[in-house]
Amino acid sequence: MTIFGIETSCDETAAAIVEDGIKEICSVVASSKEFHEKTGGIVPEIAARKQVEAMVPVIHECFEKYKELKQLKTLEDCYKNIDAVAVTVGPGLIGSLIVGIEAAKSLALFLNKPLIPVNHLIGHIYGNFIDNPQEILFPAVVLLVSGGHTDLVLMKDHGNYEYLGGTLDDAAGEAYDKVARLLGLSKYLGGALLSKKALECKENTLKGKLPRPMIDQDNFDFSFAGLKTASRRLVEENKYSSEVIAKEFEEAAVEVLVKKTIKAVKKFNVKTIMLGGGVSANNYLREEIKKEADKIGVITQIPPIRLCTDNAVYIAVAAYFNNNPRKYEEIEVNPSLGIMDLV
Ligand code: KG4
Ligand code: ZN
Repeated sequence: MTIFGIETSCDETAAAIVEDGIKEICSVVASSKEFHEKTGGIVPEIAARKQVEAMVPVIHECFEKYKELKQLKTLEDCYKNIDAVAVTVGPGLIGSLIVGIEAAKSLALFLNKPLIPVNHLIGHIYGNFIDNPQEILFPAVVLLVSGGHTDLVLMKDHGNYEYLGGTLDDAAGEAYDKVARLLGLSKYLGGALLSKKALECKENTLKGKLPRPMIDQDNFDFSFAGLKTASRRLVEENKYSSEVIAKEFEEAAVEVLVKKTIKAVKKFNVKTIMLGGGVSANNYLREEIKKEADKIGVITQIPPIRLCTDNAVYIAVAAYFNNNPRKYEEIEVNPSLGIMDLV
């Protein structure tokens, strides 16, 4: 089975072709990040317009890549190989999502193939299955950490989830981005830059100075708003270097994420932890979760870094495992989907 995936939930315009459920054949990702850096944050209208500009060229480029890789003669030969189209229907920015959904409907109609709607958050989880030769054992605890979401779920099987907890205010990625901005590292999506800055810190002389919100509470919820405010105070004190603040922030955020994830693993006696979402590209989080999971003999699955942030490969993979094709007129945008919403 060959699936053509499309992802346009935010500022990335992405297309990918996946074979046999998990084999990434080709992937194209265009981003309008530079425009949002100029405005110091995303302007949804601009993101949607950039999606319109990029969508058809990205689909075309994906087919061209496929043609070359498969050594096919014409694009028509490529079209014949596609068995289904998959598309993100939410959550995300409504204008951006609509561009991808309409493109996917047109493509499915043109190819006369089924269209499979995908929840973006579930998509992130399937980043773990891409080209992964290892069988993933269920049940698994999933920590989903992206720019807009922080959720802990128990994945019992494909399509079978139990919600354990999530953030009560800001998402982990949002906190990373806000602190990066406070430190003057980036006006937009500076999580990776903050992490890079933290690496420059030789010794965390601020250790324990920032709160680890809700860390010992008997639940699986998170809160990052207070950590963000406390970080701002540290910056305003004007006494500490950016490196040490970045380091202490990262340690505080990761400590909470790891501790609560491990607590869930123990409570539900699972054998696998899966990470997903943009923040799972964070090296410190990857190392810490693996270190703690290894101690208790639990397997950690984390997508390769390049597949942690938004792309269409995981959308196609999620569609394969949750193959629920719909008539195109039944597929609608849903900007506020949560992780528990199956589509
Ligand atoms: O999943 P994603 O690409 O988009 C959403 O669906 O939200 O996640 C983007 C988030 C941003 O907050 C970005 O700063 C964060 O992931 N991020 C990171 C890293 N790479 C991306 N945060 C910390 N460390 C990183 N290396
Ligand atoms: Zn995402």
